[in-house]
Amino acid sequence: MTSKQVWNNARLATLAGDQPWGWVEQGALVTEGEHIVWVGEASQLPAGLEVEAEHDLQGAVVTPGLIDCHTHLVYGGQRAREFELRLHGASYEEIARSGGGIRSSVSSTRAASEEHLFAMALLRAESLKAEGVTTLEIKSGYGLSLEDEAKCLRVARRLGEEADVSVLKTYLGAHAVPPEFQGRQGDYVEAVCAWMPELKRQGLVDAVDAFCEGIGFTPAETRRVFETARGLGLNVKLHAEQLSDQGGTQLACEFAALSCDHLEHLSPAGIAAMKASGTVAVLLPGAYYFLRDTMLPPVAALREAGVPMAVSTDHNPGTSPTLSLLLMLNMACTLFRLTPEEALRGVTVNAAKALGLADRGQLRAGLRADFCVWAVDHPNELSYYFGRNPLLRRVRGGIESP
Ligand code: NIG
Ligand code: FE
Repeated sequence: MTSKQVWNNARLATLAGDQPWGWVEQGALVTEGEHIVWVGEASQLPAGLEVEAEHDLQGAVVTPGLIDCHTHLVYGGQRAREFELRLHGASYEEIARSGGGIRSSVSSTRAASEEHLFAMALLRAESLKAEGVTTLEIKSGYGLSLEDEAKCLRVARRLGEEADVSVLKTYLGAHAVPPEFQGRQGDYVEAVCAWMPELKRQGLVDAVDAFCEGIGFTPAETRRVFETARGLGLNVKLHAEQLSDQGGTQLACEFAALSCDHLEHLSPAGIAAMKASGTVAVLLPGAYYFLRDTMLPPVAALREAGVPMAVSTDHNPGTSPTLSLLLMLNMACTLFRLTPEEALRGVTVNAAKALGLADRGQLRAGLRADFCVWAVDHPNELSYYFGRNPLLRRVRGGIESP
């Protein structure tokens, strides 16, 4: 008995090959178990194929499953009050320096039970999934003690086990200095490094991130975190050049970072470093929008240099409380001037690259059978609408969500 399934009468945006969108006008997919085993023109489907099920997609557009490659999905509380304060003129940095910002989410996260954090994160994950997300990265960084970072990373792992979404766990201990280390930032960085082997041993870390910024960690402190990570064989990524140019990108590229994220203040030297190390630029239009930023990331120069660009929600309670990756496609185009095809590549093939995943992000034989079926005539509509969800069907690992 075969477990093969055919998904026929599809218009495929494979994002593979040289055609724009990797387009196949009259296409079909064959899946077997968790994987795609064949993709192409329906007329070329192998003869005598024995299948368990045949799905007629009635000419709908199919894309790879969406990948949200930068989120802070696990936290307690919310920060709507800070939004109000910013509307009254306070800046994000001022709020952070006066003890609010990330540190306010740290107190609510520490106070929350693991069960409550899981319930809240599950609700958020369901919103992302409802728009076609099949893979999700989740960072820690609101616990900031060994125990609380482990608690948040366990919640992320449990989502990956129970919520029908693949989860990559990123350790972001170097997100802010917690109150008990106030005035001892160097000691805190040593603690972040000291906790890393234990978190890794517990299977809670797929990659390591840091917030390199005037209100975050210096390049020297970031280097210390990255040396520790690489020493443990872990990949790194960086919140880089969001509010100022710290040269964090060049530093991250020395460590072959998978991605540098935000990048509003990225310099030409940073772009050259990314090109040389094959690092992905993760663009976060939700944070740019919500902070009412005016400094645009250098998208034209990144494009010119051939640096792969990804797009993500950066879902977090302080700078990007959005749960719509489709809205980020629209904003990546309207605010950052990506093309709709670049935006879609940004949440599929390049988002996979930003997570170091070679097994997804395109519709190609051998890759995971993670894909979305959309009620649109053309994939450019995924960037065109905002506030509309045209998802018809979501398939992850060959299994359709209920
Ligand atoms: O990606 N920049 C640092 N980290 C988050 C914001 C975290 C927060 O304000 O809670 C970001 O924008
Ligand atoms: Fe972030």
